[in-house]
Amino acid sequence: MNLVPMADILNKANEGGYAVGGFNINNMEFLQAIVQAAEETRSPLILQTSEGALKYIGMDYVVGMVQAATKNTTVPVALHLDHGSSFEVIMQCIRNGYSSVMIDGSHYPFEENVRLTRKVVEAAHAVGVSVEAELGRLGGTEDDLSVDEKDASFTDPEEAEEFVKRTGVDALAVSIGTAHGVYKGEPKLDFDRLKEIKERIKIPVVLHGASGIPEADLKKAVSLGVCKVNVNTDFQQAYAAKVREVLANDPEVFDPRKICGPGREAIKAAVIEKIMFLGSNGRV
Ligand code: G3H
Ligand code: ZN
Repeated sequence: MNLVPMADILNKANEGGYAVGGFNINNMEFLQAIVQAAEETRSPLILQTSEGALKYIGMDYVVGMVQAATKNTTVPVALHLDHGSSFEVIMQCIRNGYSSVMIDGSHYPFEENVRLTRKVVEAAHAVGVSVEAELGRLGGTEDDLSVDEKDASFTDPEEAEEFVKRTGVDALAVSIGTAHGVYKGEPKLDFDRLKEIKERIKIPVVLHGASGIPEADLKKAVSLGVCKVNVNTDFQQAYAAKVREVLANDPEVFDPRKICGPGREAIKAAVIEKIMFLGSNGRV
């Protein structure tokens, strides 16, 4: 596969003051739409699969499709495992050619998160693969990952500094008020906390659960040092809305290409919009 380590993409974003989307692949249409959007806007690209998407699509199909999609790409592309739950899953992704992995030990006590993340960093860095980790816990739902609001917790800036020093991770996902999935109320981001985290850690900071966050807040987060912004639900909703519209407009339609094709176009338009908000267009 024609891939680069995610750290190459994010270190440039960190220096340049913009963010790159971590865009989730759910099926072939998502992959094609996201790659086309990045090509057209000349944006570096981080394609990511959750473990749920891997289960749904299958590792061989993910690798085969990404191989096909990146054969002629002219922008740098990283393939990243999103919310990796164990050392074993991470090793499986590395063996299959992923150029980046996330180990999500955010539900473990601090010392256990450090130990597991350090172990992943040692193995991944030995073969040139980047590592993202998470400290603090986001609420909401993504695939099989569901965290009740009462169990969510914000990232402690002092702990973040210690965590980065002891693990050697390339990027750190922080919890500052975003949540996975659809927001019940209005999301309130703790920008002071983000500022303090960024003063203490120099590596790229990652914002998860970015769907539904207003443009102004996203831009502010980027201006305060967020370099990777994860989006999935917004694109799923764009796809579903278009497919519903097609089916409602023509009750006779049955060809999946006439149903999913417009859905693919809707994802692409939503991805382009997000790339522009994040400022990664024209950075190649
Ligand atoms: O890891 C993936 C993201 O955090 C996506 O979150 O579906 O709320 O945009 P979202
Ligand atoms: Zn996430």
